[in-house]
Amino acid sequence: MTLVEFSSFIANTHPLHFICDAEMNLIHLSAKLTHALSFNSGDKKELIRLIRSSDSLCLHKFSLKHKNYILADSRFSHNDKPYTLIKLEENNIQKNTELKLHCLEEIISNINDGIIISDNESKIALYNKSQENLEGLSSKEIVGKHLWEAYNYESIELSEHRKVFLTGKSIVNNYSAHNHKEGIPKYVSYSTYPIYKNKEIVAVYSISKNETTLKNLLSETIELKRRIRKKHIKQKKTLNNGTRFVFSDIVGASASICKSISEAEDIALIKSNLLIVGETGTGKEIFAQSIHNHSNCKNEPFVAINCGAIPENLVESTLFGTVKGSYTGATNQMGLFEEAKSGTLFLDELNSLPIAMQSKLLRVLQERKVRPVGSQVTLPVNCRIISAINEDPHKIIAAGKLRQDLFYRVSGVYLDIDPLRKRLEDIPVLAQHFADRYKQILGKNIKTLSKELTEVFYQYSWPGNIRELEHIIENLMIRASVEDRELKINHMSHYTKSRLLGQQPHQHAIGVSGNLTATLKDIEERIIREQLQANRWNVSKTARDLGIVRQSLLYRMQKLNIDNPYARKSIPKN
Ligand SMILES: Nc1ncnc2c1ncn2[C@@H]1O[C@H](COP(=O)(O)OP(=O)(O)OP(=O)(O)O)[C@@H](O)[C@H]1O
Ligand SMILES: [Mg+2]
Repeated sequence: MTLVEFSSFIANTHPLHFICDAEMNLIHLSAKLTHALSFNSGDKKELIRLIRSSDSLCLHKFSLKHKNYILADSRFSHNDKPYTLIKLEENNIQKNTELKLHCLEEIISNINDGIIISDNESKIALYNKSQENLEGLSSKEIVGKHLWEAYNYESIELSEHRKVFLTGKSIVNNYSAHNHKEGIPKYVSYSTYPIYKNKEIVAVYSISKNETTLKNLLSETIELKRRIRKKHIKQKKTLNNGTRFVFSDIVGASASICKSISEAEDIALIKSNLLIVGETGTGKEIFAQSIHNHSNCKNEPFVAINCGAIPENLVESTLFGTVKGSYTGATNQMGLFEEAKSGTLFLDELNSLPIAMQSKLLRVLQERKVRPVGSQVTLPVNCRIISAINEDPHKIIAAGKLRQDLFYRVSGVYLDIDPLRKRLEDIPVLAQHFADRYKQILGKNIKTLSKELTEVFYQYSWPGNIRELEHIIENLMIRASVEDRELKINHMSHYTKSRLLGQQPHQHAIGVSGNLTATLKDIEERIIREQLQANRWNVSKTARDLGIVRQSLLYRMQKLNIDNPYARKSIPKN
């Protein structure tokens, strides 16, 4: 084959080319190039200048008829003489393989993800800069080595690249450390895929992510989401009278909570003073706000104050207000009675009010007038007073912490809220409610609570009541991963676990009040509840175990307000 025949042979794939001899003299131009250059002698001169100026023409740029080309050269011999074939390739990535390769190499070395490619013998063919940073190995040391040598695997079988090569199955979203640096495992999250050519696997590659950056980004995102959602939830819920709750926000399924809600709905319609009694975290404030929002004065302010939180010397001025000059530095300041206008004044932890102050409050309630500190005039009291205490009133009266006459004055109407351990039916409903809320805030996918976790919740005595349950669910939700669908015991922190599992069931359930009837009732209730729970609320079996007839057990359950949690549904929302 002559050089001219060779030229026309390759013209199909490389229409624009020329051939030089060993001294880079132009020997032959392809037909298409001859044709193109014959139109423009300037281009031909430029080409000859290029040929003379350089040993290798590879990657030189060249313009022809307003199109940009790049030169690619390859050596060959003909009749024992060396020649160079120079092709003009269009200087765009789609058509120029060399340029494409160059771009891909640049991307691989600059990308922030780690990349490893291994060949058909499981030898590392490429190990990019990011992978070096992620794993602490150097490409110089490991390229060319078998994967198991590079990573010191005990057996060849441990190589995932080899597994992918043999099976053709990708390994997606793995998380593992293949190298230790200074004793610290270098964890990466990665996926490994086969590369096919003509239906045959020719290589395998992995793409690894920097887990630390990812985790930091994730926690930042979660934190931001939480803040945004919390803000959103607050904004959405705050009503313009200083409250956030209405009755439909009170979640529960027990007969006890249903009874409290229905009583409270009636109470809302009358304006008598109200005392709410319930242990800490049982929902006294949520009830007080709901009552306000259900009443005729819902458009008036709801003003809440925790009596235990005001310093003793400021109680009077805070509640009744001050006038300018009444004492050094005093200004005109509106008291909370005045601020509440015709709305509601909620006195939380009333029993924390100093005894002297309790007498003053009693007078205000009797006269329905307040006199601001330093003032000669009195102001009418138009608001409704809702007070709350978190201990048995008779006990605190006996202990001298609450004046009996004040108790009678504030408890014109009385609302009792049972502790959570006495309304077990509410536990799964409330737990699910809080899980749904934190699922939104934290962007998790929990759908239900596991049976075992619910069982632990039933056994626990909940001294902090609903507030405690909410905090525990929040903590469990934080520890659950995005993939988890069920909230489980193993999402508990060590501390929570020891608190919830370490406690004897319902230690707190018996309150020895000194009153024999009440104590016996507590004991009876505890024994029945525990036996029912042990028998998964099977009434017949429980009656047998307790040695009484079924009818008698049902009677006692009704008397003690014990409802079967598995037989009830959540209160429907309005
Ligand atoms: N039935 C319920 N449904 C939904 N959330 C509730 C319920 N009861 C209480 N909560 C929530 O539990 C938390 C505690 O409730 P709240 O502040 O009303 O209790 P409290 O009796 O006033 O407590 P404390 O005596 O400590 O002041 C709040 O976040 C409240 O929203
Ligand atoms: Mg409260």
